[in-house]
Amino acid sequence: MLTSKIAGIGCYVPANKITNEDLKEYMDTSDEWIQERTGIRERRYAHRTEETTTTMAVEASKIAIERAGITAQDIDFIVFATLSPDYYFPGCGVLVQRAMQMKEIGALDIRNQCSGFVYALSVADQFIKTGMYKNILVIGSEKHSFGLDFSTRGRNISVIFGDGAGAVVLQATEKEGQGIISTHLHSDGHSAELLAMYNPGTHANHWVKEPLADYIDAPIGEMFMSKEMIDKAQNFPFMDGPAVFKKAIVKFPEVIMEALIKNGLTTADINMLIPHQANLRISQFVQQKLALRDDQVFNNIQQYGNTTAASIPIALCEAWQQGKIKEDDLVCLAAFGSGFTWASALIRW
Ligand code: UT7
Repeated sequence: MLTSKIAGIGCYVPANKITNEDLKEYMDTSDEWIQERTGIRERRYAHRTEETTTTMAVEASKIAIERAGITAQDIDFIVFATLSPDYYFPGCGVLVQRAMQMKEIGALDIRNQCSGFVYALSVADQFIKTGMYKNILVIGSEKHSFGLDFSTRGRNISVIFGDGAGAVVLQATEKEGQGIISTHLHSDGHSAELLAMYNPGTHANHWVKEPLADYIDAPIGEMFMSKEMIDKAQNFPFMDGPAVFKKAIVKFPEVIMEALIKNGLTTADINMLIPHQANLRISQFVQQKLALRDDQVFNNIQQYGNTTAASIPIALCEAWQQGKIKEDDLVCLAAFGSGFTWASALIRW
């Protein structure tokens, strides 16, 4: 039977380090607040003009492809997860296809924010299991720094996010017991507006009345940013942080346990949990709830902040590079975020 294994993994973060102290130049915040509430010490910001979500993805992909021992010409399909695409449309997948001079393969963009990479991996896994494709490039990449509110008004969001990219080559294998064991995908759209960027969009304030109405108001014909919308900061992401936090600490353990139970495994079988790097406090809560040891969980949010769709592949890449993931290890990926959507994947490395 065909399964999919991660044949190569790569990651890329911009050189430009932004510390918590640096952010104090723009907003009323402190290193103490940010570290205590999120664990973040610094993050990376892409070069304003020379780096995009796609260029970072290409750098990560080159490494993943080289480590898989193949070339860009061997890639059969691209699945690209991002919430910060280079263009409103088309998606970043085609830009990677062009930049890497790939064949005229299919390219699919996934818009599932924090759980985007796990969703992307799951989609790619299905194509491989059916025998349709052999080598799929799965990417998570974000350039958040282009669109955050760096005034005090936006501080609850802007201190959290960072830029970066991660990519894997998912490859068909017939080796028994290796590769993706199962993936588990969920959503609950009732809280869609609690973590969202409403504009540009076609909603014309259709979904939500008070109290968010003023924030997301988009008069018909002005969905692509009127001056008034910009003046009211309606062009920036919105997050009800505490509400997201409360839901995250329930759904992370739930979706991890779902994956384990489905496969007759327990938390003791996990060699490495890679949680989406949303907030160190969330990861620590999940670790405690599942009674996992420190060596069973990998976190790097301290250095990179929350890179949304890129956070899991960057963390997976670093954990592997540091020798913390070895052949035959059971690796669990888990994510929760905007939508809400949440997901997990179990992989035998
Ligand atoms: O990856 C996508 C999924 N996202 C998440 O999982 C994020 C989940 N939520 C969180 O991580 C946390 O809710 C935050 C880190 C966003 C916020 O932490 P919090 O402990 O929930 O703080 P809060 O929003 O309840 O705000 C507490 C106080 C407020 O001041 P008052 O009203 O008590 O005077 C905020 O205005 O902290 C203030 N505050 C800040 N102060 C300094 C908010 N942001 C900042 C800041 N610096 N950056």
